Amino acid sequence: MRQEELTALLQDMSLEEKVGQMVQLMAGFFQEDASGVLTGPGASLGILEKDVWLTGSILGTYGARELKELQKKYMERHPHHIPLLFMMDVIHGMKTIFPIPLGLGCTFEPELARRCASAAAKEAAVTGLHVTFSPMADLVRDARWGRVMESTGEDPWLNGLFAGAQVEGFQGKDPGKPDKIASCIKHFAAYGAAEAGRDYNSAELCEHTLREFYLPAYRAGIDAGAALVMTSFNTVDGIPATINTKLMRKILREEMEFDGVLISDFSAILETVAHGCSRGERDAAGKAVRAGVDIDMMTSVYSRNLAELARSGELDESLIDECVMRILELKNKLGLFENPYKDADEEREKTVLLCEEHRNLAREAAVKSMVLLKNDGILPVNRNQKIAFVGPYTDSRQIKSSWSFTGDEKDCVTIREAAMEALDPRLTVYACGCPIISGETCLKGFTEELSQEPSGRELELMREEALRAAREADVVIMPLGEHYLQTGEAASRAFLEIPQVQMELFREVCRVNPNVVTVLFNGRPLDLREISGKSRAVLEAWRPGTEGGHAVLDLLLGRENPSGKLSMSMPYCVGQTPVYYNHTSTGRPYAAGIQDRFRSRYLDIPNEPLYPFGYGLSYTTFEISPVELSGDRMRLGETLTARVRVKNTGSRPGCVTVQMYLQDVTASVARPVRELKGFVKAELEPEEEKTVEFSIEEPMLRFWRADGSFASEEGDFRVFVGEDSAAEKEAGFTLLP
Ligand code: GLC
Repeated sequence: MRQEELTALLQDMSLEEKVGQMVQLMAGFFQEDASGVLTGPGASLGILEKDVWLTGSILGTYGARELKELQKKYMERHPHHIPLLFMMDVIHGMKTIFPIPLGLGCTFEPELARRCASAAAKEAAVTGLHVTFSPMADLVRDARWGRVMESTGEDPWLNGLFAGAQVEGFQGKDPGKPDKIASCIKHFAAYGAAEAGRDYNSAELCEHTLREFYLPAYRAGIDAGAALVMTSFNTVDGIPATINTKLMRKILREEMEFDGVLISDFSAILETVAHGCSRGERDAAGKAVRAGVDIDMMTSVYSRNLAELARSGELDESLIDECVMRILELKNKLGLFENPYKDADEEREKTVLLCEEHRNLAREAAVKSMVLLKNDGILPVNRNQKIAFVGPYTDSRQIKSSWSFTGDEKDCVTIREAAMEALDPRLTVYACGCPIISGETCLKGFTEELSQEPSGRELELMREEALRAAREADVVIMPLGEHYLQTGEAASRAFLEIPQVQMELFREVCRVNPNVVTVLFNGRPLDLREISGKSRAVLEAWRPGTEGGHAVLDLLLGRENPSGKLSMSMPYCVGQTPVYYNHTSTGRPYAAGIQDRFRSRYLDIPNEPLYPFGYGLSYTTFEISPVELSGDRMRLGETLTARVRVKNTGSRPGCVTVQMYLQDVTASVARPVRELKGFVKAELEPEEEKTVEFSIEEPMLRFWRADGSFASEEGDFRVFVGEDSAAEKEAGFTLLP
């Protein structure tokens, strides 16, 4: 449609029709016999039959045939036959499930994330979907928060590269093109700063921290063209983000120049009442529209209040028109007025979903996302020895996440299946040893039936079988980890360990065989002191998705060489969280060896995480030369080059992510002790040497200053280059006015 046609359509719509476009409901309201829904959740939500058939969009359902039928039925009933938008959480894959975003961040390969998003878009589009609520661009620092799994980590610049790449993967240059879908950046803003890592909690952060650390990744996604943004549940400056006019109008719409659709998170408008910032639903409705929230997800706050607010003159109807026009423009951008079914195609579903190309990509992404945290040389494992796989993730297909419900466990490759393809069955034995969780594991409130807990005797038999297998083996590989419902939304944890039933098995196995290799399936950084201390090797597999079993065996057997680098620090223990590398110095910085006790430190643990941001081992070793700078000073508009030589000093080909960090030594605000400003993935053959160069330009030195300007300040800078954020090789330069 041309813009003037959209304008004419808007002008011809009734007020009720306009408000209907601003409502999003779940598909249950549209099923053949929706009476149960309308009298059940519908009634409690105040959603009436008339609201249902004026709704502008639906979330949470997919399938080419189903959505085509629903679209047809809906449009026939709609007064202006305006097509529905179909939206879904396609977070890390549709049917082919890729590693969780926290794992993808460990690849330090945004282009790979773009490819994964593109594949996910193709699978989503063919099932009839138009929009994904992804990528989540929230910066994360607190491993207690269950949703760190959906983030690409603790660095604002790296998160921005991944957010932009995923938006491009989902949307391409035009989300209206075939096999592309619209992308929704979330959760705006600073949801990851929920205090104490407790989900939905308030966020306490100053504007400097908000702008310096939390906003850049959203900005990168918007600059990449994200068609939607989703509000966050938390408060910012004490005001719920969803009705925070400064955040949504001044910062999002004006400063970031976002002119797309702003959708609330699930019932977030209604929740401003519980926040104590809206006197009731009517007040919430008015505040949200004034903040520019176009769509109310899954409540009747808009449908029950906006028309009356407009008719009473309390709300200027032009604000409603503004919201509705943005929604119509999105539908138009997707081509839905010309083809309301877009790419929905039952026949193509059969060939596109889980196709070999996507499975291969999932395997590549899983291999590159995994991080080798420890290895005393026992890996890669010698396949001509007796190997015991002991642990509940030996046979578990649940290696996806709680945010991949469009994918099916049955399609996931288990460790055992991958091992049986590759290893001599005469030399290999498998024993789960225990369930993933047992009665003591806290999974409050989840509908999922906790796996039928084995009886005491069954547990004993499982343990005996596992210990027998471990005793007789040359090496014991222990696939262990969190239950998949222990991370994700509403899954904050106060302890960062794997379930105790698994730790007990781990301790007993270590007592009978010291040659233990632990493979971890988890969605957050954990307290790995004991596992690392007792294992000869530790491979962090995160939640690797459909091809996880193959990827783990590729790495354990040395068919692939680990290259993952932590995108989020592994804390020493939960008491150390939040812990992150780009922290400020404080006035009393502590470093190991300083005797003065009046320093910023703990009495009982170190300041440093167990494993730092950017850390990850390889099966080979690398040597990085001292940093050479092309000069020791720079003026505005000039460029310095930092150069190192990197050599593979081991016996295997490998890939090393060389990282460059900068420190602004003195500035008008306290600056981080270092910030990632460049990285290069270098593939090297044994003994091969390469020069790696990083450009240093003045824009990289800019920061949010106390007067609200975003600028650099002259002075001294330090340059660090190495294999992780603890890199010590340094040089220095001065920025001149
Ligand atoms: C959830 C999540 C959000 C998701 C939305 C729709 O509450 O916070 O990330 O996209 O609801 O499922």
